[in-house]
Amino acid sequence: MNSIAQQILVALFLFSPAALSVAEPTRERISINDGWRFHKGDPTEVAGSLDYLKIRDWVLPSSAAFLKDPTVLPKRPEGNLGANVPFTQPSFNDSAWRKLDLPHDWAIEGPFKQEYKGKTGKLNYSGPVWYRKHVNLPASDQGRRIYLDIDGAMSYATVWCNGEFVGGWPYGYSSFRLDLTPYAKPGSDNVLSIRLDNPDNCSRWYPGSGIYRNVWLVKTHAVHVGQWGTAITTPQVSAEAATVAAKVVTDNKGTTPTQALVKTKLLFAGKPVTDLPVQTLQLPANGSAVVVAEVAVPKPQLWDTTTPNLYTAVTTVEVGDKVVDRYETVFGIRSIAFTADNGFLLNGKRVQLNGVCNHHDLGALGTAFNTRAAQRQLEILKEMGVNSLRTSHNPPAPELLDLCDVMGILVMDEAYDCWKEGKAKSGYNLLFDDWNEQDMRALLRRDRNHPSVVMWSIGNEVKELSDAVVGPVIGARLTAIAHEEDPTRPTTLGSNKPDASYNGIQKSVDVMGQNYQRGGYAEFHEKNPTIPLVGSETSSAVSSRGEYFFQIPEQVADQNAAANEPEQSDKPSKRAKRGKQAPKKPTQTQPFEIISSVKTEGRADFQVSSYDLYGPGWAIIPDYDFAMLEKNPHVAGQFVWTGFDYLGEPTPYNADSTNLLNFTDPEERAKMAKEIKELGELPVPSRSSYFGIMDLAGFKKDRFYLYQAYWRPDFPMVHVLPHWTWPERVGQGVPVFLYTSGDEAELFLNGKSLGRKKKPQYEYRLRWNDVIYTPGDLKAVAYKNGKEWATEVVKTAGPATVLTLEVDRSLIAADRKDLSFVTLTIRDENGTQVPRSKNLVAFNVTGPGEIVATDNGDATSHASFQSPNIKAYNALALAIIRATGPGKISVTAKAEGLKDARVVITGQ
Ligand code: GAL
Repeated sequence: MNSIAQQILVALFLFSPAALSVAEPTRERISINDGWRFHKGDPTEVAGSLDYLKIRDWVLPSSAAFLKDPTVLPKRPEGNLGANVPFTQPSFNDSAWRKLDLPHDWAIEGPFKQEYKGKTGKLNYSGPVWYRKHVNLPASDQGRRIYLDIDGAMSYATVWCNGEFVGGWPYGYSSFRLDLTPYAKPGSDNVLSIRLDNPDNCSRWYPGSGIYRNVWLVKTHAVHVGQWGTAITTPQVSAEAATVAAKVVTDNKGTTPTQALVKTKLLFAGKPVTDLPVQTLQLPANGSAVVVAEVAVPKPQLWDTTTPNLYTAVTTVEVGDKVVDRYETVFGIRSIAFTADNGFLLNGKRVQLNGVCNHHDLGALGTAFNTRAAQRQLEILKEMGVNSLRTSHNPPAPELLDLCDVMGILVMDEAYDCWKEGKAKSGYNLLFDDWNEQDMRALLRRDRNHPSVVMWSIGNEVKELSDAVVGPVIGARLTAIAHEEDPTRPTTLGSNKPDASYNGIQKSVDVMGQNYQRGGYAEFHEKNPTIPLVGSETSSAVSSRGEYFFQIPEQVADQNAAANEPEQSDKPSKRAKRGKQAPKKPTQTQPFEIISSVKTEGRADFQVSSYDLYGPGWAIIPDYDFAMLEKNPHVAGQFVWTGFDYLGEPTPYNADSTNLLNFTDPEERAKMAKEIKELGELPVPSRSSYFGIMDLAGFKKDRFYLYQAYWRPDFPMVHVLPHWTWPERVGQGVPVFLYTSGDEAELFLNGKSLGRKKKPQYEYRLRWNDVIYTPGDLKAVAYKNGKEWATEVVKTAGPATVLTLEVDRSLIAADRKDLSFVTLTIRDENGTQVPRSKNLVAFNVTGPGEIVATDNGDATSHASFQSPNIKAYNALALAIIRATGPGKISVTAKAEGLKDARVVITGQ
């Protein structure tokens, strides 16, 4: 059991309202993820009748609770929407439909198709689909409220219960609740039918498709804490004492006015701490009331990134002598402040945000949310030194925030990638006017109790940034909504437009966020001395794990001067006008520009060299971001683009003609040149990004160690790149880079010193640009303050002979949800990894387990993630295993000509 569940159970167990009767069950929250039926496509009766624009007036009323003025909503039309559609009807026989469990992303099942767009992962994700489930409600549910809570459905969800239209919610990233009570039949079988209709061209990345997050039935008494009805804040925080305030919204869905008592108790580690004053409520019939109470907590256990202490507030609602509801809110006691001069303060102390941006997909699992897969990502990020995460560019699964609470990770919780002006034809721009207030309030109410969340992002690189008239108005409106729902956290946005730091938009948020504004930090502070600033999106370096191409021009490799250059502010160019700052022509003294201007450097075979020097035009190498932040301590820190590779957006391999340079074979090149001429673009195979510090499978690229060296200065480490198996380069130069948390290092090739080098200020890697390759051992010895600090040896590999398997966890819960991530490595007879091996591997599982997905981190692979057979990519492949029941699961891997490997996982 994970620790979140543990804490909640302990809280439930220890809190018992002794003096009161709890004869009736209070609140129940039941997972209804299992046993759904699924079908792609509409029946003929639909014939366009359920298109959003036609049913808008049916759907919008579902959002009434999230509008300040719900009277602006259209009135729900008379009758029953979709009554003529057989799939909505309880009598419809769905037994031929596919049976599956949620969360489910149907689009990840593929197939990948070359003709589909790389930007959305070369997968089809659009078109109507249906999910149906039979739910038995006991007769004892009579008189209770029955709610359907959907944490996320991609997208344009519409829901029927027993053939009656209930409502819907279009934004695929929002969590929402529908009231089933008027349609549900306690004491009998009930049928839920859910239609989704993800539009084509709705996203700049792979959006996923399906009911891809958890789904719950919530049953309550007529009088109960409203949806996301608590807001726990900590107005005063110090090591000696804190004040905890609880705002509780209680709903009365009954037809008579009712008096109720609201009591909130605080627990820490399962033990009672203190009680908030009891509040008496007068609830109108079919109405709500709000109470606010405060209490002092002496010697609070503060939440921070190293000791993420969590409290639980247990709120009970009593009517007469009965407890009718009990509701838990996990929260933390901490103070946050963003300052204009000194970055971010947590409990009064400055904490540099060492963050990454991540998309919502989980690689080979697609967007189907899985807590263990998300936890694994966060563990890898923490190992690198990450303390912050940006949920780019949308509300995350709620469990991701639970994990961040428990793991001490600070979160920038983001609402949108666009406002009124879209980036994809059928993106959120189509919904913004009708839905932005509801989606924003839903996000805020859902997430405002998480101590991990420290800021709300109201948008990423929205097109209105350069519109000095419209931009500030929308920005201020969204900020006002955020402040109404949560007065404790600032808003921010991610701005890629230089002018947005000065045109008024910067004043519409509490903390300005700059994306890739080289040189923008100092100028911003000078011109906006009272506005805090964060590097909301940085770097965008690209690389492929284990690929090294030897095209490093002298000046590219020579970065030392770069970081010591005064900051540059580029003149706007065509690219800058499009929002990305333009690179300058590279010169010997401005080599950092080369990352952006020599567009094709480091590229071959649709992969990108891992010397960590390459990126698209707007990119900045990690080293330069480090230097800029060191020189600008007023900036709160950075969120690197991205922690993990993600599906879609395979920059730099978009379909432009520079891709021709990928082909070294003249015949292939001529063939492609012809194709480009005819088509106007090149059909590139790439389907996932190269931005990740980890690849899509979660394997570390070299960049992991560059960040780790800087973000964990007290962790002894040194990393050598590239690998040392270059039979074709004997006698030729192979540049060697070292990433270390030490301050100097000596490199040895076959025992012979190649010199000891020290990192000057503002330099973050050590380089030996002209090592002449001879096979053998390349050894790095790092020093810190003159003392030996860390060593690493990279050895030349012989021919591949064996496979090895390694599990991240050998004991997993047998609940079909928990996962074991199994890494396959191809090695020579001495156990040395064979770096460029790409053998085809067959995974097999016996016992109570199954393969959920496989991957290898190759952004160009079109192999199905569901196949047990996969080619290793640069020595590695991954199998994701789950237990289908308790017992020993044997995982084997075979590859022709190599010795098999086997590993055992226990499900319990
Ligand atoms: C940014 C954008 C991200 C991603 C990134 C790639 O401008 O905000 O979503 O597209 O570029 O470099």
